[in-house]
Amino acid sequence: MTTDFAYYTPTKVVFGKSAEAQVGSLIQAQGCKKVLVHYGSGSAKRTGLLDRIIDSLKKAEIAHVLLGGVVPNPRLSKVHEGIELGKKEGVDFILAVGGGSVIDSAKAIGYGLYHGGEVWDFYDQKREITGCLPIGTILTIAAAGSEMSSSSVITNEEGDLKRGTNSDFSRPKFAVLNPELTYTLPTYQTMSGAVDIMMHTIERYFVGGDSMHLTDEIAEGLLRTVVHFALVLKDNPVDYDGRANMMWASSLSHNGLTGAGNSSRGDWAPHQLEHELGGMFDVAHGAGLAAVWGTWARYVYKTKPERFARLGERVFSVKQTGDADKDALAAIQAMDDFFRSINMPTNLKELGIEPTKSQIEEMTEKCTFFGSRTLGSMMVLGKKEIHDIYTNAR
Ligand code: NZQ
Ligand code: ZN
Repeated sequence: MTTDFAYYTPTKVVFGKSAEAQVGSLIQAQGCKKVLVHYGSGSAKRTGLLDRIIDSLKKAEIAHVLLGGVVPNPRLSKVHEGIELGKKEGVDFILAVGGGSVIDSAKAIGYGLYHGGEVWDFYDQKREITGCLPIGTILTIAAAGSEMSSSSVITNEEGDLKRGTNSDFSRPKFAVLNPELTYTLPTYQTMSGAVDIMMHTIERYFVGGDSMHLTDEIAEGLLRTVVHFALVLKDNPVDYDGRANMMWASSLSHNGLTGAGNSSRGDWAPHQLEHELGGMFDVAHGAGLAAVWGTWARYVYKTKPERFARLGERVFSVKQTGDADKDALAAIQAMDDFFRSINMPTNLKELGIEPTKSQIEEMTEKCTFFGSRTLGSMMVLGKKEIHDIYTNAR
């Protein structure tokens, strides 16, 4: 049974080799005059991408100011720096050159410049978002899907809190997707990205109620594609088709397509569980998801074993036996086996962290927003369940 839905994807996608050369005219088309070019800790400079972007801006007679230094699990202090710089320089557009961390930092700066006041209030659910400075993106890693999503996730160093906020106002005006820009990624980042891409669809696949037939087929096709090309890229990181499929999957997996018509926005418990790992231990987001997903799945599968069994059959060709519980466990095992095959962790120890009992208490508290929320739609998780999952994931 299909549920009513709204699908809003205002982002213009420019896909292909040398696509970044068009960035000047893309910003010109937005009627903007001065750009804050936001980037990460070094790769955009090292690869010469930044120089090519500046050339394109100059040709289009668009002024710019640079702000680099965004780190994975992007920090609130960098966002504050960007807001101050943007105000001082009078920028009217933000260009994010990088991955989810840079794009999310750009979105936060966009909120801050539009509204004034403390930007963290939007992440702390204290204020409502009513606008955002226009954002454009040049993607350098296929993973978070922020290039078409409405989300931004920021870490506040005070309290090591990683929090997300959503608003259609921050959906980028354009996404420049040149698969060749991802050739230089370290394998760990490529594979962590592959997991994140899969998870954005899987979170929408596991819902409390019904799902839409077409959406299930799209979701399963996307998951098969990512599994296939992750293995191709493991052997050959410069396989153009592999990079191209991964990049397009990144965008489609998190722009709403793979959840349209399903009975809720998705489960998202694994993501929320991971956010505390990122906030407290600064792990790569996709790797953190791989480390908790199997434990989460084994904890909740009895609420919908047939759904897990279907995932196993459609994505990993695990034949169903008619015993749904057994098939569900086989599907979860197949997912963990796949993670291992791409050198992703399947528990916290493999992720490289060994939280103490008191750190697990702290993660649990933070994950419930200090007792004010539950997680999940397929199975609702309260404090005890969250604590159990963190403990079992060790
Ligand atoms: O900073 P540089 O030097 O660029 O290095 C980055 C970084 O170390 C490197 N990298 C990126 N492109 C590269 C490259 N290295 C070599 N060559 C290239 N072409 O990769 C590392 C990871 O970058 P990051 O932007 O952190 O990766 P990702 O795209 O996975 O983003 C992760 C962040 O996005 C959030 C995550 O929580 C995490 O903070 N998410 C954002 C979402 C959204 N806004 O919709 C949804 C996701 O669920 C996720 O939560
Ligand atoms: Zn994610």
